[in-house]
Amino acid sequence: MKRRDFVKTAAAGAAAGTVPALATPSRADATDPAMRPAQPAQPAAPAVHARATRPVLVADLSSIRFRNGGPESAIERAFRGITEGEDILDACVAGVNIPELDPEEHGIGYGGLPNADGVVQLDSCLMHGPRKWAGGVAGLEGVKTPSLVAKAVAELTDHHLIVGKGAQEFARALGVEIHDDLNTEATRAYWLEWRRRVDPGHWLDPEERLRRRGPAGEDADLSPAARMRRFHDAALAAGLSMVDDGLIDADSFWGTTSLEVVSPDGDICGVTTTSGLPWKIPGRAGDSPILGAGQYVDNDVGAAGSTGRGEANLYNLSCFMIVEFMRQGMSPMDAGMAVLERVRDNTVEARLQNSRGLPGFDLRFFILNKSGEYAGVAMYGSAESAFAVCDENGAREEPLVGLLEGSPRD
Ligand code: GLY
Repeated sequence: MKRRDFVKTAAAGAAAGTVPALATPSRADATDPAMRPAQPAQPAAPAVHARATRPVLVADLSSIRFRNGGPESAIERAFRGITEGEDILDACVAGVNIPELDPEEHGIGYGGLPNADGVVQLDSCLMHGPRKWAGGVAGLEGVKTPSLVAKAVAELTDHHLIVGKGAQEFARALGVEIHDDLNTEATRAYWLEWRRRVDPGHWLDPEERLRRRGPAGEDADLSPAARMRRFHDAALAAGLSMVDDGLIDADSFWGTTSLEVVSPDGDICGVTTTSGLPWKIPGRAGDSPILGAGQYVDNDVGAAGSTGRGEANLYNLSCFMIVEFMRQGMSPMDAGMAVLERVRDNTVEARLQNSRGLPGFDLRFFILNKSGEYAGVAMYGSAESAFAVCDENGAREEPLVGLLEGSPRD
């Protein structure tokens, strides 16, 4: 769907009603439970209070399409939690744990696509609007649900980001199960195919490789920098060729789960989780663990989360900008479009552009404000592109509104 075709405006309203009191654990109480998928608060004596807004939740498609064999998708689980009085962050994390644990979802968590070495490295960050908590992890290995570790960073420490080995040790110290390998049979097969495309002789022993390439090896005259550049370009091209050939769907390749919510009390929260760019250079962190880039929440204003090429959000601090534009009075739709225009204008390097001189990648934003108005926008809109919404009318997919026509690969 293109912007000009977009006629739907999300009806913001204040439906008066009764909801159970929010059960928000204090920081001091938050010890072990931080590491367990949260349960809805037990219904205590129902408290009656006026709703500040309509509760609504926006997210990417994995939040509605993956259930890990269970009865609920991420947005259904999270929406149930916030309307039953569970802490808003606990509800969101319990939601994204569903696709994180689903081995069929190849963009996040267990079964996410691995890095160039074949190792799954996960990123996540989250923000709790009313408590102004934030936490993130990057390059985390061996933990199926990085969002739970990000939550523990927010709840248990004054740090906002823990990376790599330190993040794994932090999780281990909290009793989180550390797995040797988060690959599945499918992701291992995808990785082997990628290796074959990047370097058809990768399986040969070094002497045989040298013999086939000639005594000096075909890269012998390249500097380390030139060799790195060549590998990087070849790695990305091989990955994208697997999308073009229909081996991996684009949603998995660029896959990330990001879920933003405004509660019946007008409180706001967001969680983002990903395995990042497939076949990335080991240690590469994208936008998803970085506050302001792949996720941002301001409880007075709204929230934005993102999927797509993380480097574009790192450069433009896109989610922070969207929330700031909303603070200045823009609607979620206009704020998202303004940032997409900024990303487009800042994409000046030819290697990042398609043949039309436009961004050669997609970027999607899921945005809501404190009133419950929302938007799903993308650099490129198409008939198939959609985002997930959940509100009092249930969970559904709605079309994304694209800034540009056509495809990033045109
Ligand atoms: N947006 C996810 C990433 O680039 O890692």
